[in-house]
Amino acid sequence: MRWLKGNKTTPLILLTAGIILVLLSIRTFYTIGYTTTNVDMSPVSNNDPVKACFVVLVRNSELDGIASTIKQIEKTFNGKFDYPYVFLNDDDFTPEFIETTSALTKSQTKYGKLDHQMWGYPDHINQTYAAECRDEMTKLNIPYADSESYRHMCRFQSGFFFRHPLLDEYDYYWRIEPYVDYYCDVDYDVFKEFIATVPTLWDTVMDFRTENPDVANRWPNKQNSLVKFVTDNNGASYNGCHFWTNFEIASLDLWRSNDYLKLFSYLDQKGGFFYERWGDAPVHSIAASLMLRKDEFHFFNDIGYRHTAYTHCPTEPEFRDKCSCDPEVNMVSYSIDFNDPMTCYPEFLRALR
Ligand SMILES: *[C@@H]1O[C@H](CO)[C@@H](O)[C@H](O)[C@H]1NC(C)=O
Repeated sequence: MRWLKGNKTTPLILLTAGIILVLLSIRTFYTIGYTTTNVDMSPVSNNDPVKACFVVLVRNSELDGIASTIKQIEKTFNGKFDYPYVFLNDDDFTPEFIETTSALTKSQTKYGKLDHQMWGYPDHINQTYAAECRDEMTKLNIPYADSESYRHMCRFQSGFFFRHPLLDEYDYYWRIEPYVDYYCDVDYDVFKEFIATVPTLWDTVMDFRTENPDVANRWPNKQNSLVKFVTDNNGASYNGCHFWTNFEIASLDLWRSNDYLKLFSYLDQKGGFFYERWGDAPVHSIAASLMLRKDEFHFFNDIGYRHTAYTHCPTEPEFRDKCSCDPEVNMVSYSIDFNDPMTCYPEFLRALR
């Protein structure tokens, strides 16, 4: 996804070394064609309709990319299930964008524009200081250091998309992204530079926990939460592990809950979305790891997915005939090797124990 000024093409979540994971289990939304284990769900019969949608933040200039994504989603999933698409943009969608995308699916398509509250500077942000922070981060060669729109995007995905009126009628969402070709080698230490974007995020969340015992008391205890996925030293610091939010299927209720909104508003007040470059992936991951019980997560090992250089292509024989990706051919980019510490898979397994 391209959110930089000018025509430099840059993938949205280049920095994510986390694993593809899905927050909360989601009833019948995905049951056919995917073998998954649902846990902790209120009993629903498979015939009950689920109020779910695809949601995508996309620009008019990304029409080709999103068209490619929609074709694949329709072919592999939605042609059978007919879930609606919600397209969101910080600008008005062009007639061409609307015509092209709506022609690619027989499902309903909806188009919305973000207002200033969702995509703009809140009053408490000192924009002069924010510009100075961007300059400092640029000197350190941190990816997207100089981008304002990237920061608006991360803040929007952390705190607002689920409050957009077009999503009001839905309980679940599957976030999708325009197709992005990987445009250059990863020639820096992705993991380290990722941490440089969120130096105070963890401490800020810990401060929130201390200052809001009423909220923190509702969080599961260490044994039952996934906290060990995001910290290696018993909470002293953040280890950088996070879930890819650009492939995320989750309950909107999680983000709409008072507890999460209180946390988001606390983070927003601290200014880190603009003075640092807090991403929605670490924000969602830390919040979910602290707020949810382990059994409320589901890792979709069976969904093949590619975003920029990171590919997840299942190798297990039982999934192979459902996937068009080829684990061998995918070496061109590269398939995630779950033994690679960069994947955070070991942390995930440790946290699940
Ligand atoms: C905003 O930041 C600039 C630069 O750091 C500083 O000089 C100025 O005093 C700040 N303004 C306010 C109102 O805090």
